[in-house]
Amino acid sequence: DGSLRDLPGAQGFRIGTAVDPNRLNNEADYRNTTIEQFNSITAENVMKWETIQPSRGQFNWSGADQVVNFAQANDQIVYGHTMIWHSQLPSWVRDGGMSATQLRTVMQEHIAALGGRYRGEIYAWDVVNEAFNEDGTFRDSVFYRTLGESYIADALRWADQADPNARLYINDYNVEGINAKSDGLYNLARRLLQQGVPLDGIGMQAHLIGGQVPSTMQQNIQRFADLGLEVTITELDIRVPTPASNASIQQQGNDYRAVMNACLNVSACTGVTVWGVTDRYSWVPDTFPGQGAALPIDENYNAKPAYWAMYEALGGE
Ligand code: G3I
Repeated sequence: DGSLRDLPGAQGFRIGTAVDPNRLNNEADYRNTTIEQFNSITAENVMKWETIQPSRGQFNWSGADQVVNFAQANDQIVYGHTMIWHSQLPSWVRDGGMSATQLRTVMQEHIAALGGRYRGEIYAWDVVNEAFNEDGTFRDSVFYRTLGESYIADALRWADQADPNARLYINDYNVEGINAKSDGLYNLARRLLQQGVPLDGIGMQAHLIGGQVPSTMQQNIQRFADLGLEVTITELDIRVPTPASNASIQQQGNDYRAVMNACLNVSACTGVTVWGVTDRYSWVPDTFPGQGAALPIDENYNAKPAYWAMYEALGGE
């Protein structure tokens, strides 16, 4: 078997996965696959607000510390996920009925604590996650409702104070192709840059459907690159109907190849992270019953055509 991280195309390129520290501790196949294949890791859940600060001023760093320590022990970089998000947000923030002043204070405290704890150790932070609706307007989160669009610029500035060396990203899904949502994100990015807000990158999650990789993906990545931004594919998976047919798994391989090439063809696109180590633990079947098998490595840790598509895209033979 091969190793993605050892391939020529993975030198200076981040090839990542999303991890759960309990599985890293308890399951050898999971741990070894993470070490052997990837040079970057993202915490799938344990850096989210509900875990880090479940009640005000009470911080729980154990899972996040484990992820960072694991990465450092295995010569991997850490992609930080996420500071400000409407989901997995504890109710004391979500339903707290805070004034604008109170909410800003709480946001700044959270960002300062999270960014500060790992200052200098995080490649990039998803500072703001999933701020948009499908039509390109802003999502009606507690942050937008209470503060308006300004919460995004403020979050980026606070993150910059907390960790000046981390690249600061805005991350979202369904923004891989050119569409109303990615137009909204593009226009926001342009406004922020014009205002001198410290925005460094765009994360495209890429939770995709087999056979439906957007044909404008490379063009879309390029237009963000042309603003001077870095782009990362942050949460790649490509779901198919389950039990998966041979044909759908072959098609999925071609889809992974298309995503890899869309990124690799744009020099500002510096990494691809797949959202999980193995189909065994993917979030997809829980959320989309009857769909799954979305990752390059199957439930028994065998490489699928999607894996070999990534392998070849990174220069393996
Ligand atoms: O930790 C509890 C556990 O104690 C409990 O027994 C169990 C029973 O349901 O739930 C566990 O929590 C689950 C958590 O994952 C940890 O496994 C939650 O129910 C479950 O909702 C949660 O799902 C995560 C999801 O975000 C939540 O929004 C997925 O693992 C994670 O892959 C997914 O990741 C998101 C990204 O952060 C943002 N982009 C979309 C992506 C996919 O939804």
